[in-house]
Amino acid sequence: MARTSAGPRSSWWRSPATRALAGLATVAATAAVLVTAPGADAAASTLGAAAAQSGRYFGTAIAAGRLGDSAYTTIAAREFNMVTPENEMKPDATEPNQNQFNFSSGDQIYNWAVSHGAKVRGHTLAWHAQQPGWMQNMGGSNLRNAMINHIQKVMAHYQGKLAYWDVVNEAFNEDGSRRSSNLQSTGNDWIEVAFKTARAADSSTKLCYNDYNIDNWNYGKTQGVYNMVRDFKSRGVPIDCVGLQAHFTGGSSVPSNLQTTISSFAALGVDVALTEVDVTNSSTSQYAALTQACMNVARCVGITVWGVRDSDSWRSNESPLLFDGNGNKKAAYNSVLNVLNSGGGTPTTTPTTPTNPTTTPTTTTTTPGGGSCTASLSAGQSWNDRYNLNVSVSGSSSWTVTMTVPSPARISATWNINATWPSSQVLIATPNGNGNNWGVTIMHNGNRNWPSVSCSAS
Ligand code: XIL
Repeated sequence: MARTSAGPRSSWWRSPATRALAGLATVAATAAVLVTAPGADAAASTLGAAAAQSGRYFGTAIAAGRLGDSAYTTIAAREFNMVTPENEMKPDATEPNQNQFNFSSGDQIYNWAVSHGAKVRGHTLAWHAQQPGWMQNMGGSNLRNAMINHIQKVMAHYQGKLAYWDVVNEAFNEDGSRRSSNLQSTGNDWIEVAFKTARAADSSTKLCYNDYNIDNWNYGKTQGVYNMVRDFKSRGVPIDCVGLQAHFTGGSSVPSNLQTTISSFAALGVDVALTEVDVTNSSTSQYAALTQACMNVARCVGITVWGVRDSDSWRSNESPLLFDGNGNKKAAYNSVLNVLNSGGGTPTTTPTTPTNPTTTPTTTTTTPGGGSCTASLSAGQSWNDRYNLNVSVSGSSSWTVTMTVPSPARISATWNINATWPSSQVLIATPNGNGNNWGVTIMHNGNRNWPSVSCSAS
């Protein structure tokens, strides 16, 4: 098969008129959202309700041992609409002896949450830490089988009940390589085996990878996890979400590029969440910044703080939460609430004015063998942060289309094609038996220029 590039981008690509048009459309889209933004005149007064205005959730970690404390449960029930069991669904809690399961504390939290209108994030199924003793001493195929059995049995118990499951937790080193652990020593494929097992066990829950220190886009660990998720998506390994733990304690702070990290993960076609937030001394500016970064990315689905009051925190000496030990709202609470009330890109679809130029770019390539094909692009539905492009290929039924999106835009979804990804900006599409009309969703990340395409026929 011969492939010829489309050559220099044709005139529609850089025409000032096109840019002006796109710019105008951007303004129109923004204006439309401002007019319809919920909560503009009636701010919500709790974190959960404020987040729900944009289709997001605001959650907390809950400890079963504190459910008898009414000061604690009063705040938790009032403010949060997502709950993560702090320790009660971890392997040492749910399978204390091999193949003997104990769901009493996990169920207690689950029942408390749903009876107070909150959903539950399961945490966590496969992790190097908080393994029961019998598992710590295992390796090889025994451990691999035990991991699979654990995922199957725990997920079967909660089948159809949980919104998300952290399937795998903290599997990477700071430099982006895999963390060595007994699980890692069972083979590099242990993570994808965990996700495949999880999907088969409960197809109703979203499956997440969760880790800390993956907030800074320029950090090795972030890139390591990103590359794994991209690889999983390209090979069809089931993964639905990435959790950034977002522990900004112990000397770390919110990086200025947090939004880039969130949008980059989201552009792979996964939900993103901040899953275990704490901030040293509850810096109001850092709490506001992390909330804003999530609100600015449509696919950032929610934020969970790692505990209710400072006195409940695993890092209580850093007073990192939104309520003080007496249950009073701290200044950071108000900064978070204000950002949630000010709106943001909504994770539910809000059609707005298309932002693409109205001209229809096409590209035709004639191969040396005589075959040729033409790929025509047309704008589809558009949202604040992303738009659909429809592609129609003519001239051949045996085509290969290469699409390159302009950085930092990224393709987040495709339909009706077989897709491979030489890089995060480049898609190679071939027919998957569903004809010659297909499409992509592009997260524009601020760059709304059309992608370039070339078509080659074989
Ligand atoms: C912590 C809990 O908060 C503590 O109570 C427990 O002693 C240790 O684990 N990353 C995670 C969480 O994914 O499960 C951890 O929770 C904090 C770090």
